Amino acid sequence: MYFPSYRMRRLRASGTMRRMVRETALTRDDLIYPLFVFNGEGVINPVPSMPGIHQFSVDLALEEVGRAHELGLPAVMLFGLPRYKDETGSSASDEGEAVQEACRAIKKHFPQLVVITDVCLCGYTDHGHCGLLEGTGIDNDSSLEQLGLVALSHARAGADMVAPSNMMDGQVQALRAALDGEGFAHIPIMAYAAKYASSFYGPFRDAAESSPQFGDRKSYQMDPANSDEALREIELDIAEGADIVMVKPALAFMDIISRAKDRFRHPLAAYNVSGEYAMIKAAAAKGWLDERETVLEVLCGLKRAGADLILTYFAPDAARWLEG
Ligand code: PBG
Repeated sequence: MYFPSYRMRRLRASGTMRRMVRETALTRDDLIYPLFVFNGEGVINPVPSMPGIHQFSVDLALEEVGRAHELGLPAVMLFGLPRYKDETGSSASDEGEAVQEACRAIKKHFPQLVVITDVCLCGYTDHGHCGLLEGTGIDNDSSLEQLGLVALSHARAGADMVAPSNMMDGQVQALRAALDGEGFAHIPIMAYAAKYASSFYGPFRDAAESSPQFGDRKSYQMDPANSDEALREIELDIAEGADIVMVKPALAFMDIISRAKDRFRHPLAAYNVSGEYAMIKAAAAKGWLDERETVLEVLCGLKRAGADLILTYFAPDAARWLEG
């Protein structure tokens, strides 16, 4: 069967026909909206490298979450900016910190909304690394203990799901054990399973004020050259009990998303990270790209590649565009 008896263009002839044979349906249900929160009232700070994204005091974060909820978004992901940083990142498990406060406030006002919290130390340690230091290296196993406490404090504050992003070995097992031991066996874990050491996190580190003060993250985050290794990471996280596994960043790693979905058929998330957001925003501001068309193409592409869920700073706009 080939030309001229077979003509691919027949089914592309009209908008309605294209709608009928469309293979991928992106909806707002697929989107998770990340937010940056800090203690205080009535303060909102724009993030210069992420136009349209802000750091919010808890009360204004609650308003932003209300808008997201109104748009039909199912979930938010919280990142906190602590009042103090120290060597062990102890503020990360402090019940009075912004993430914990925001969890309580959001669950009180929007009980159906799913609140996910990022479980890491980099925003809370004075050295900016995701784990505890031993000399100039990262000590994996003592970091796990600390991270377990962080996840517990989030669960106690009402988080519906925790998302370890620190890339320590055993991060899922450690969180699962900590949660199960305190009556939180029902709280799912979304593991940043294949998280690469990426230059696309640059704008996020401005927003979360979490840049490493020395060295880099290459001894715990993955080498972008590796693909089989990502599958081993994901396999281990699933074995340790991850309910959802994540690939991050998204765009330069769509092959990983695709392989992971084919191999594991496990709930899979992709993180459309800060640098991916910033690129589109910058090009759109110059009039070089149509923002709406580009964003929807990217998000649809991630879903087509195999992502069930997409974390994206475009979530509110995308929700508007998809339902509008
Ligand atoms: C913390 C963390 C990072 C991101 C999410 N959680 C940054 C990092 O590892 O440096 C990046 C998110 C983004 O770029 O949008 N470990």
